[in-house]
Amino acid sequence: MGRIDMGKKQKRPGKEVIKPDRNERKRPGDALPERILEAIRHEAEACFRNARGSHSWDHTQRVYQLCLRIGRKEGADLEILKLAALLHDIGREAEDRTDGRVCHARESAERARRILTINGIDKKRMTAVVRCIETHRFRGRDLPDSLEGKVLFDADKLDSIGAVGIGRAFLFAGEVGARLHDPKIQVDQTQPYSQEDSAYREFLVKLSKIKDRIFTREGRRIARDRHRFMTEYFKRLNRETAGRI
Ligand SMILES: [Fe+2]
Ligand SMILES: [Fe+2]
Repeated sequence: MGRIDMGKKQKRPGKEVIKPDRNERKRPGDALPERILEAIRHEAEACFRNARGSHSWDHTQRVYQLCLRIGRKEGADLEILKLAALLHDIGREAEDRTDGRVCHARESAERARRILTINGIDKKRMTAVVRCIETHRFRGRDLPDSLEGKVLFDADKLDSIGAVGIGRAFLFAGEVGARLHDPKIQVDQTQPYSQEDSAYREFLVKLSKIKDRIFTREGRRIARDRHRFMTEYFKRLNRETAGRI
């Protein structure tokens, strides 16, 4: 076998050599520069300085990772998803500060619009990101209408169930001074953001229903597993509280 001469271009007989075009898959605005993403990440994190544990920056980081995982499987636009995940809860402190009177999804969307504009994000992408944020709320009536919006919604809700969800529910209960557990709680006669707003109340009102609200196939797969674990946990909590085990 003869050596290949690296100095000369090898040309197959009868076939034209086509050089790959580096810009072939790039259109203006396609690739989000890492430094801009980092600047936005930095601004987003700063909004969580005084955040409560149940809705801290840690939650955003977990949602970001889940968005990448689900988004890749579902073929979503990861640039839009990354921005939406980083900014989706930046108005949360306003909702916590007002005991739920301010809608954090709307507040976060408004703040995100300002941050994205300052960082030079093009209008089309900004509109898509803001729309994802506006529609990510479980209790909201405005439902996600894009694949990226659905992935963000799913990732955000998946962080409320399973082992992480249980942990967050107890953190939140602690923040509002709730009891550890009340197996006989009447959900229709108790209020959110009150001392009766326990982890178990949250499970009955919201967490147990999340798996039926997930949009994407990959999200549903993760939800089934997390739901099973969480339901088992609360069943056991009832049995332990009654002294049965
Ligand atoms: Fe949120
Ligand atoms: Fe969230």
